[in-house]
Amino acid sequence: MISMEGKIFIVGIGPGAEEYLTLKAVETVKDSDYTVGSTRAIDLFADVKNTIAFNVKDLVDKLEEGVDLAVSGNSVSILSTGDPGFSGVLNSVLRISTEKGFPHENIEVIPGISSLQLAAARNHIQWDSANVMTFHGRENIEDILEVIDNGKITIALPSRKVKDMAQFLLDNGVSEDRPVTVCERLSYPDERIVATTLKNIASSEFTYMCIMIIGPKNCP
Ligand SMILES: C[S@@+](CC[C@H](N)C(=O)[O-])C[C@H]1O[C@@H](n2cnc3c(N)ncnc32)[C@H](O)[C@@H]1O
Repeated sequence: MISMEGKIFIVGIGPGAEEYLTLKAVETVKDSDYTVGSTRAIDLFADVKNTIAFNVKDLVDKLEEGVDLAVSGNSVSILSTGDPGFSGVLNSVLRISTEKGFPHENIEVIPGISSLQLAAARNHIQWDSANVMTFHGRENIEDILEVIDNGKITIALPSRKVKDMAQFLLDNGVSEDRPVTVCERLSYPDERIVATTLKNIASSEFTYMCIMIIGPKNCP
């Protein structure tokens, strides 16, 4: 039996630093009975009631636990890095809610500042005209070849190591001189932005937390 009081908030937490949290996110978490998220995400909130921390391995189990709590009538915030709708947990939560019979009208999405937006902002890019692609957790890397030479900037969440992604582009005929900017750990104190060539990126090490910006073909 589903209580009509139960509610799920899928809350975007921004790229990582507290200063990029929205007031709406802070208020929503403060008012929720439970908050589900990575430890890193939960730690951003000073005022939080009951917490359920997940890691990569138990993510689905914990999301299911969160939905079950909402089915039982609780308000539950589920935290998602950046914006929930860009390689975030939105679709997973919708799927689990459907499976458990939790009504989608009791789900509210609180948008957050995506790492993509911050990468574009840091580099003065009006991203409405960019190729925006995500390869995170997917094996659709070939899709980038369809757009990489269409004259636009490409902003991508890599699927694998940044250097491997660069090597993939080199192996598929993209010029070694193509400008590439890697934005690593945006908003954190050790944020790093490296602007160089595709060739150099293919031999550089980065953490997994990166956005790649690949310049258009024939970019001066
Ligand atoms: C599961 S996806 C989540 C993306 C998120 N929904 C968003 O809108 O930014 C995680 C990937 O986002 C990127 N990412 C998230 N936070 C980042 C940050 N602070 N700096 C650079 N890249 C980040 C990295 O590519 C990371 O592997």
